[in-house]
Amino acid sequence: MARLDYMDVYFSVQSFQEEELRGKSAIIIDVLRAASSMVTALSNGAKKIIPVGAMEDAVRIAQTMDSNDYLLCGEQNGYKIEGFHLGNSPLEYTKDTVTNKTLIINTTNGTKAIKKASLANRLYVGCFLNQKSILKVLDEHDDDVVLVCSGWQGKMSLEDTLFAGSVIYKMCKGRLPKNTKDGVKIAFSLYQKYKDELEDAINGSNHAMRLKELVPEGDISFVCKVDKFDVLPGMKDGILVNVNG
Ligand code: MLT
Repeated sequence: MARLDYMDVYFSVQSFQEEELRGKSAIIIDVLRAASSMVTALSNGAKKIIPVGAMEDAVRIAQTMDSNDYLLCGEQNGYKIEGFHLGNSPLEYTKDTVTNKTLIINTTNGTKAIKKASLANRLYVGCFLNQKSILKVLDEHDDDVVLVCSGWQGKMSLEDTLFAGSVIYKMCKGRLPKNTKDGVKIAFSLYQKYKDELEDAINGSNHAMRLKELVPEGDISFVCKVDKFDVLPGMKDGILVNVNG
């Protein structure tokens, strides 16, 4: 089992250096919405996901593939990228659309967090939708773990911190040991405060407010569903696949 006294929480892509993750396990969190879209896509039959850090990289990779095999996906500042097949709403990633496809995804913060964490020994993508799979993998390994919240353009975000806190809360069954890092204490305390009104809290988060202007309302309530999917996106040679089961 991962040890809570060794665990840390990073609150944005900009809050850590690549080297800090070398040899550790990283759980990349982006509740609104990259992680939620990836988990939904893999659960609905997408073959694999190639996360990229820039739009040009997505296009370059697509040019090397058969056009029937891939979908270009993602957003820029919340907006669907012109010329891409899909935006970043998990509700777009239906079975009909994604089955057997390779998704090449570029997002404002989520895919950047994934790319920046590439020195991690193990890398998984987590959100409320696949919380049980995250807890299971943390139970199976005892290496140092960092919960990496993607945040928003260098700032921390409520929804990602709440998910980190939820994982910590469940690991310690609501009783946090004293000798944990400050990041762990902060995430735990936030979740403890909002755990009975999770959806309300996330609805009031800065990013939910931002998205309300841009995306269908269903996105916010969808990402708050806990344990909806039994998938675990895990990184293998720069590509995310479902490593569950
Ligand atoms: C991101 O990567 O910053 C998000 O997933 C943005 C979004 O909500 O689409």
